[in-house]
Amino acid sequence: MAATLDIGLIGAGAIARGMYVGAARALASSAVRLVAIADAVPEKAEALAAEAGATAYADHRALLAHPGLAAVVVATTIGTHAELALAALRAGKHVLVQKPMATSLAEADQLIAEAERRHLVLQCEPPHVMHPYADQVRQDIAAGRIGQPCLVVSRSAHAGPPDRPWFYFQEHGGSVIFDMGVHALTWVLGVAGPAARVTAVYTRSVEERLINNAPLRPDIVDNALLTLQMRNGALASIITNYCTVAQLSPALEVYGSQGTILVNAPQAGYMRFSSGGVLERPGAGDAAMHWEIPTRTTGHQALPGSISGGREFSSPRLTSLGHFVDCIRTGTPPIPSGTLARHSLEIMVKAAEAAATGQTQELETTF
Ligand SMILES: NC(=O)c1ccc[n+]([C@@H]2O[C@H](COP(=O)([O-])OP(=O)(O)OC[C@H]3O[C@@H](n4cnc5c(N)ncnc54)[C@H](O)[C@@H]3O)[C@@H](O)[C@H]2O)c1
Repeated sequence: MAATLDIGLIGAGAIARGMYVGAARALASSAVRLVAIADAVPEKAEALAAEAGATAYADHRALLAHPGLAAVVVATTIGTHAELALAALRAGKHVLVQKPMATSLAEADQLIAEAERRHLVLQCEPPHVMHPYADQVRQDIAAGRIGQPCLVVSRSAHAGPPDRPWFYFQEHGGSVIFDMGVHALTWVLGVAGPAARVTAVYTRSVEERLINNAPLRPDIVDNALLTLQMRNGALASIITNYCTVAQLSPALEVYGSQGTILVNAPQAGYMRFSSGGVLERPGAGDAAMHWEIPTRTTGHQALPGSISGGREFSSPRLTSLGHFVDCIRTGTPPIPSGTLARHSLEIMVKAAEAAATGQTQELETTF
């Protein structure tokens, strides 16, 4: 049996409850313990800690001083990720941070440097790059099954969180691109590799929303289209918004000169069409492995069999926390790495510049 690994959770909100508490419970048999939970709202920390059998803290500094704590998950509002992840690394803890890892490239560089200097694992959400479907697309492309990759289309959209106002304000890091677009972007990067340039169009389509049944006027963009030229020569299109009540499109479409791949299509996990129109469905038994669907009432929710619960906890490649624990124990670099997340962040930051100026932006980072 491996030595016990004690983990803390900073942030006791929806994703902490919906994903990490369950993931930690599922890893209990491999000696992972969720021992501490902090939230700036003490009652939230206390309620979740009581459910999880952990100690509650009202402040992340107190959590970082928890005896024997080895690693931390940062699952707070977007604007706080960099500061909290840096504090955890400086306290000598391995870090798994929600997306995006930071809101500026300077902060991302600082996190990567701090983790390297201290030989700590820095893993960044979202994990699509290590999803078996991403593996399958990369294998199909490498084996020439769809010819030359020409166009990748990915979308991540829902109607917008119905109950937490911070998502709609820039001062908290609110951004449909940081919150949702990053999923589509990570799929694209995961199957097509790094991008060379980006252009984008942004708008706010819904000026007033009902959040917690009260009118709210967001200051964020809620509807964005990004176009990327990938370093492999393909084009990519990323569609993201808080304006999608329902949709029937696959999460990822890959068009090659001799075939098409559709990933997370409704009712079909993975579809590959050859140029003769022949359909193959590798892993068809996994058709229920959608990660998110939009719903009117919750904004988005995980389907049964998604990353938030079920059989896939048996594989570390199928949960962020499982992979994180694996990397800490084996000293292997995480697949959703800091450098990948920094490239994704550069694209999102430069997409905003492109949208504001109308000028395509060259990208400098890679992974
Ligand atoms: N909810 C989802 O389904 C979902 C899915 C994927 C990713 N995410 C991401 O997870 C992150 C959190 O989202 P959420 O939906 O859980 O939000 P949430 O509002 O439900 O929870 C965020 C929590 O962070 C706490 N917090 C804020 N600043 C803090 C600080 N300095 N110290 C300690 N706690 C602090 C808040 O009090 C709140 O309880 C975001 O980056 C979001 O994009 C959410």
